[in-house]
Amino acid sequence: MIIEKIQQVLNAAAKKAGYDEEFSVSFSNMPALCDFQCNGCFALAKKYGKAPLAIAEEIVAAVEQNDQFEFVAVKPAFINIKLTYKAFSELANKYIQLEKVGVQEHEQKMNVMFDYGGANVAKELHVGHLCSPIIGEGMKRLYKLLGHNAKSDAHLGDWGLQMGLTVLQLHEDGVLDYYFTGKGQEPEITLDMLNIAYPKASARKKEDEEFKKRADQYTKNIQDKIEPYYSIYLKIRALSIKTIEKLYKELGAEFDFWYGESSCDEYTDVVVDEFVKQGFARESEGALVVDVAREGEHIPVPKKSEDEEQRYKNPMPPAIIKKYNGGDLYATTDIATIYMRNLENPVPDEIFYYTDNRQNMHFEQVFRCCKMAGISPEGQKLIHIGFGTMNGKDGKPFKTREGTVVKLDDVINLLIDASSKKLASNGVQPTRELALKIGVGAMKFGALSNFVTKDYVFDIEKFLSFEGKTGPYLQYTVARINSILAKANEEYGQINIADDEQRAIIMQIIKLNSAYQICFEEKSLNSLCLATYDLASAFSTFYNNHHVLNEKDDATRKSYLGILTLVKKALVQALNVLAIEVPEKM
Ligand code: ARG
Repeated sequence: MIIEKIQQVLNAAAKKAGYDEEFSVSFSNMPALCDFQCNGCFALAKKYGKAPLAIAEEIVAAVEQNDQFEFVAVKPAFINIKLTYKAFSELANKYIQLEKVGVQEHEQKMNVMFDYGGANVAKELHVGHLCSPIIGEGMKRLYKLLGHNAKSDAHLGDWGLQMGLTVLQLHEDGVLDYYFTGKGQEPEITLDMLNIAYPKASARKKEDEEFKKRADQYTKNIQDKIEPYYSIYLKIRALSIKTIEKLYKELGAEFDFWYGESSCDEYTDVVVDEFVKQGFARESEGALVVDVAREGEHIPVPKKSEDEEQRYKNPMPPAIIKKYNGGDLYATTDIATIYMRNLENPVPDEIFYYTDNRQNMHFEQVFRCCKMAGISPEGQKLIHIGFGTMNGKDGKPFKTREGTVVKLDDVINLLIDASSKKLASNGVQPTRELALKIGVGAMKFGALSNFVTKDYVFDIEKFLSFEGKTGPYLQYTVARINSILAKANEEYGQINIADDEQRAIIMQIIKLNSAYQICFEEKSLNSLCLATYDLASAFSTFYNNHHVLNEKDDATRKSYLGILTLVKKALVQALNVLAIEVPEKM
């Protein structure tokens, strides 16, 4: 990679000048002046008893003659580095041939499982489910681009209390008599029924202890595969999954596995036995718990305590792995799922989980349990990325006008409506498919531009603007390049970087690679969003000042077409990581 090459040249020059040091080079703070800079001379002044600027000058004087880089020592003691147009041209012609533009793949390939989505069967998806598939999908794609073996699992919520609640409610409403008595006609359970049953039961459970106990028993019956509970459950599950699949498809989330909590059913007892055998489990009020607290830890569990200090002096509460009635819980299935994932060959090196940050503690408990019992091998990284809340423009959690939770389906329709209107005002009558691509793309870019753990602001107007750091602006840039290339209807030729606007484009492609690496380190895609925008905007400056199609000189015109092709390739690649679809036309 180019930065490493510059470092090599610099280190060789330094050695020649008598400084056996490793220098590091970074992108320039002042791109108008130079492309890269090295600030390493300051640190050497004391060691060598010389003025830092003198050291910089000596090193620059010792640089081998070459046609790729220009080194200049400047006050107070920086070494500024510029790539020559020749170097930029060579890079551009190399990049355009590569399958992956400006990406340095990692040498150490890892096997990584991404657990995102997490839709719950029998419950409607809502705005809180928006971020997980978006961020998770993007990170998985980044890992793939960097050469890792990344896989994803939807990990449906299909083994918890909501199942028992829903079946009990439907039973009480008389919908399930056929299954329990064998009399009458088999009913058709519909989505509408589920959408009414679960919220109703969920509200009732909060007030009616006896109802809650029965729901627990129904849940346990499902988990024990007792009929007719289990068959009813399977029907409800299949029905729900259809909707879930449709929504995830619209959001562009692609899963290698459609497992759920229920998929690890055969291992829940295995892992619970393991905790008992190893002496980690103890009984507490009829339930089985594992102590995961660490000596002297103070975790900020906001307990309802008057004592401000006490509130933040809590050890981690124990993880509950069996319910009082013997049922499995969220922690049980998560632990058993890790057990199951580790039966695979190859065993994952890393497992990522994407949920909002209210589940931080749940995952910490699960991870600690798995490590203590050896269910997750040493060296395996279990990483929970707890993202922020989706807020409205007022900074409060995004709600409907009536103050209820916004359904995911409604969010998508909102995006489609808004993008249709926007496109129409630009003179395009979009199909639903195009409006979906633009609307969802806009939302994704807006959300991913945020540092992953921060709260989000759902600002549809801002997301959908055709100017500035937005999804539609980037999609539009690609569509515009498509249309120019179609009009040109000519093969591109050798790229010859001949001015600073062209140079800026190649520089942005170099920076794009650095952004991929930063995102990998930070586990957040915001730097990639920014770098993608910077490339599009460098392209726009170039395009506004160069007459690509009217250029008379054949070689120059073909070179321009090469630049356009390269920019398109780099943008599409970056947008593909963000899972933002690029329409051919817009
Ligand atoms: N179903 C869960 C929820 O809605 C999310 C699942 C996340 N993944 C996991 N392995 N626990 O909160």
